[in-house]
Amino acid sequence: MKLEKVDQKNLELAYHIQKTIFPEEPDFLFIRRSVNSDRIEFNHYIAYVDDRPVGITGTYTEKCDKDSIWLSWFGVLPNERRKGYGKEMLLETIEICKKLPFKYFRCYTSIEENASAQPLYKSIFDICEKYLNRNDKTPNDTIYSMSLTDEKVPYWNNKYIGIKEYDALSQKGEEYLKHHKKSIL
Ligand SMILES: CC(C)(COP(=O)(O)OP(=O)(O)OC[C@H]1O[C@@H](n2cnc3c(N)ncnc32)[C@H](O)[C@@H]1OP(=O)(O)O)[C@@H](O)C(=O)NCCC(=O)NCCS
Repeated sequence: MKLEKVDQKNLELAYHIQKTIFPEEPDFLFIRRSVNSDRIEFNHYIAYVDDRPVGITGTYTEKCDKDSIWLSWFGVLPNERRKGYGKEMLLETIEICKKLPFKYFRCYTSIEENASAQPLYKSIFDICEKYLNRNDKTPNDTIYSMSLTDEKVPYWNNKYIGIKEYDALSQKGEEYLKHHKKSIL
């Protein structure tokens, strides 16, 4: 497996892969934001096997915590699942994170919407907790965390993430594409 960083050239492919895997949450603007950002921790990657794109992964951070790096859009195309690619992609993403100056790797997920990922996350991450924050959108939301060093990872402890804002950006992205598709893709 080879991870190729998403840039201006493969942005359209990355968006199509992400939208195929997450049809309810297409996220063009977030992926494009990572392409235009020079933050070393904010990137997406297309996973290739034998020159065939099989999935997407990525990393980002939350402003409120400088010690944690998060798993961004992570998924394998439907016809490529159950071949070990998801696990390989996650382990490669963790290797990328270990080279960056962060102590903890975290993942926000929904036990219902992302049910297929839960056994994998349980097998790789150190701890799992419910995310409950009354100012945010949190039904069935879960956070997995692991340490990238020898230090024990602390619980996230319901610090505000802003899932509402991420959802709004996803909707805004589809609106944006309706009006600009020809000029940007
Ligand atoms: C989660 C996902 C990435 C797994 O990818 P994959 O390539 O099928 O996973 P792998 O073949 O590497 O399997 C990894 C482990 O997960 C298990 N697994 C995979 N799909 C599963 C499923 N649908 N139900 C239960 N377990 C599953 C495998 O049995 C394997 O366990 P093992 O290592 O003990 O054998 C893929 O199902 C997917 O893209 N789901 C939709 C997107 C999504 O929800 N992403 C998570 C966002 S938070």
